[in-house]
Amino acid sequence: MTQKFHGVKGMNDLLPGEIEVWQRIERTAREVFQRYGYQEVRTPVLEDTALFTRSVGEQTDIVGKEMYTFEDKGGRSLSLRPEGTAPSARAYLEHAFSNREPVTKWFYIGQMFRYERMKTGRYRQFWQIGCETYGVSEPTQEVEQMELAVRFIEALGLQDVSLSLNSLGDDQCRPAYQAQLVSYFTEHLSALCADCQERLVNNPLRILDCKNVQCQAVAKDAPSVLSFLCEPCRSHFDEVKRQLTLLKVRFQINPQMVRGLDYYTRTAFEFIAASPVLSTASSVGGGGRYDKLLSSLGGSDTPAVGFGLGLDRLCLLMADQAPGVSSSAPLVFLVNADPESKDAVLEWTSKLRHAGLRAEMDARGGSLKSQMKRADKSRARFALVIGQREIAEGRVQLKSLHQEVAPRTVEWAHLESELKDESNLNRPSGSNSGGEKRPGSPMGKVS
Ligand code: HAM
Repeated sequence: MTQKFHGVKGMNDLLPGEIEVWQRIERTAREVFQRYGYQEVRTPVLEDTALFTRSVGEQTDIVGKEMYTFEDKGGRSLSLRPEGTAPSARAYLEHAFSNREPVTKWFYIGQMFRYERMKTGRYRQFWQIGCETYGVSEPTQEVEQMELAVRFIEALGLQDVSLSLNSLGDDQCRPAYQAQLVSYFTEHLSALCADCQERLVNNPLRILDCKNVQCQAVAKDAPSVLSFLCEPCRSHFDEVKRQLTLLKVRFQINPQMVRGLDYYTRTAFEFIAASPVLSTASSVGGGGRYDKLLSSLGGSDTPAVGFGLGLDRLCLLMADQAPGVSSSAPLVFLVNADPESKDAVLEWTSKLRHAGLRAEMDARGGSLKSQMKRADKSRARFALVIGQREIAEGRVQLKSLHQEVAPRTVEWAHLESELKDESNLNRPSGSNSGGEKRPGSPMGKVS
């Protein structure tokens, strides 16, 4: 018996029919991110394992439990990247970008890998759109990024995504807070889940966002990080809030939000979708400042800020909230009425494609009926039936396949320009690169 193969669990094929939504998100991201001055980078999916242990943190779930790690034939420990910040920082340092420019702004779109328990919106291979800035310590930088993310989400036409904001302090003020937190949770040790009892020793901040209801009940009354901020962290945070308000970016303060990666200092933020389609995987993105990461990777002291958005989750939201995204259906399907006209169909299909139009034909030929069936199935807007008579008379009928309108006769000489007009008239809303703002969006207003 021949073995049948299946894709790896938690890793999805993206097929025609859904890929158009992905393409629209990516197209919008490229347009919006570049408008804010970010340039695209692509780093490999495999990195030295130590890059992630040193940056994301050995005690995090991502590194401790979820990495795809293996030894290559040369005995090196490699891991599939679970996130994009560390690889991007590695590339920035390796190519000495600080010598080329004082401020570097990058974005990336790519697959990440985490061996997680799967559910709606949570996969083992997933896609992130991320951006990172190196070289700016001022609060304006994270404000720019939060505004960018908000405008991008708006450009996709998504509703009910809120921005959650916190400050995690820095190495001046966080130790005192952490000590206080440990003492608080130690008093409530028996109420914590087994994982959190371990976190109490290794990574107490993470207890604050444990999803276990009993842990949440305890965490609710835990001391707030915001009461422990030192003066520089407090004024940095105040300035972030002030500038967000100035730009009319709405946010909610959430002192429990600590993020699942260890490299953050000061500002942390998350985008949370209210939609039930994501079930509990409601975080569509998150990020923050990480001023110590580059020096911990051997670089000079370089302030940095970044965020990542989950493309899979954005797609689920799009399917729910912004259906009818542009499809890759042809504009026109060319059909031969008789075998003698096959070459004319081939030539005209080629000519229209060269003119930049989506033209399709059935390379198998076949009867007029079967070609028309195929044209219908392709969801093309028009069919052009070419026979010896059309060739002799110098004109052809343009038939609408989905609208109740009479076919119209077009001279061959005008066919290309008529189809171009049709194509421009019906340009899908996503193809103007998402600059439009959806009215009534909850974002873009001050809270
Ligand atoms: P993160 O919060 O781990 O941050 O991931 C960012 C986003 O990726 C999440 O909000 C979620 O939408 C998506 N995501 C994460 N895990 C999965 C999964 N298993 N399946 C589907 N989507 C997922 C980071 O990765 C940081 N590197 C973000 C950052 C950039 N911070 C600074 N710069």
